[in-house]
Amino acid sequence: MPIISPSILSANFANLQADIEMLNNSEADWVHVDVMDGVFVPNISFGFPVLKAIQPLSKKIFDVHLMIINPERYIERFKAAGASILTVHYEACQDLKKTVDQIHANGMKAGVSINPETPVTVLNDILPSVDMILIMSVHPGFGGQKFIPESIDKVKAVKAMMQKRGVNALIEIDGGIGLQNAADVVAAGADALVAGAAIFASENPTETIAKMKRI
Ligand code: DX5
Ligand code: ZN
Repeated sequence: MPIISPSILSANFANLQADIEMLNNSEADWVHVDVMDGVFVPNISFGFPVLKAIQPLSKKIFDVHLMIINPERYIERFKAAGASILTVHYEACQDLKKTVDQIHANGMKAGVSINPETPVTVLNDILPSVDMILIMSVHPGFGGQKFIPESIDKVKAVKAMMQKRGVNALIEIDGGIGLQNAADVVAAGADALVAGAAIFASENPTETIAKMKRI
């Protein structure tokens, strides 16, 4: 069964508590938290004060996706704000290995993400050091976009790279995931599915999560 990580970017920000409680009572495994700086991506979401406010309300693991330039500046603060998994972008780091080591030194799992236009081969060097690779299946910055079908091949390619090198990391996919394509991405090798709009805009989010889990 895939790990389900609902993205609260699509939650109701006027009542985040209600959505966090809904997730507590659902089969969601993680909570996906998208942090954007308005520089790496053309949007700004939320930061430490929001994380700190919702973290004590949540029973789930915080899967934090940093869409920010030079994320190494903030690693300790994300740990303090409750992150368990911290994912940084390959494209946003000056020294990726050092950043990953710093995440580990702060007691978190480290993820590395690549944008749709970034080839999987850039992951070659970092692969043995990561706990998770996050394949972006939309251009990061906004929820509710259309899934880029070529992402399936990228998941397969990363899976093959991991198998060849004996790397036991997770593959997460993020962007445009819903009940219509969850089975395909899992078959391609995805272990964790991020879904925002497909969950929070559905009539019964708890049921959508349960269905996605059993896809
Ligand atoms: C986009 C974010 C995603 C977003 C996914 O930049 O990284 O996590 O919330 O939203 P959906 O599932 O609606 O495409
Ligand atoms: Zn994300």
